[in-house]
Amino acid sequence: MKRYGEHRFPGKLFVVEGIDGSGKSTQLTLLHQWLQAEGYGVVFSEWNSSPLVRDTTKRGKKKLMLTPATFSLIHATDFADRMERNIIPLLKAGAVVLCDRYIYTAFARDVARGMDPAWVRELYSFAVKPTVAFYFRVPLEVARRRLAIGRNGFKYYEAGLDLGLSEDPDESFDLFQGRIIAEYEKMVREFDITVIDATQPIEVQQQQMRQIVKAKLAQAKRLRVAP
Ligand SMILES: Nc1ncnc2c1ncn2[C@@H]1O[C@H](COP(=O)(O)OP(=O)(O)OP(=O)(O)O)[C@@H](O)[C@H]1O
Ligand SMILES: [Mg+2]
Repeated sequence: MKRYGEHRFPGKLFVVEGIDGSGKSTQLTLLHQWLQAEGYGVVFSEWNSSPLVRDTTKRGKKKLMLTPATFSLIHATDFADRMERNIIPLLKAGAVVLCDRYIYTAFARDVARGMDPAWVRELYSFAVKPTVAFYFRVPLEVARRRLAIGRNGFKYYEAGLDLGLSEDPDESFDLFQGRIIAEYEKMVREFDITVIDATQPIEVQQQQMRQIVKAKLAQAKRLRVAP
């Protein structure tokens, strides 16, 4: 099977990527509402949500039982289950599928945890290439400031505390998320990812996203009516 091949299904797949607090969910929610209002059959799929392993993942995280390898494998299982049971059937049915985080999240996090980049990419070779993958590029300080307002404290794995980089959660978060940013930046060219300047106001970013998505959907319509 060709790795991350262009799928030939009638549906479209748009995914958002970026570090915690970069604004992914904010933008995807707005895009979802707009697509619905435009009359598209649109479905939302979230990371870490497969009924098959969701509880195990939660327990593993709560009890701090996951190693970099089992962390990676359990997320791959979750994703494979969603891909086969949810995302592919929807694309076959012609839906617009929106994913909050996709394989690039796994590549960035798992490599930041010390897993081999080629091994992680191979692990996810069943995945289809998104129509557009948006990367919300934001400096660490901006993301941290946004999260400080919205939440209290970082979670253990979110801050990479399992890696022993620092005992201070804030410092560990910075070091770990810094590694993740470096991985995302490497992937922009490797996977032809669309970068959005995520320091801009919410509405400005949303306009940029809609323009790109609209062009892809119009192109699909033209191809369908062509003889
Ligand atoms: N462009 C923006 N300017 C200022 N604040 C923003 C912007 N976009 C999002 N925010 C705020 O930042 C916080 C984090 O946003 P959001 O939850 O969308 O991020 P996320 O990337 O989905 O994070 P996570 O990966 O943790 O789910 C929210 O409180 C949101 O209102
Ligand atoms: Mg989110």
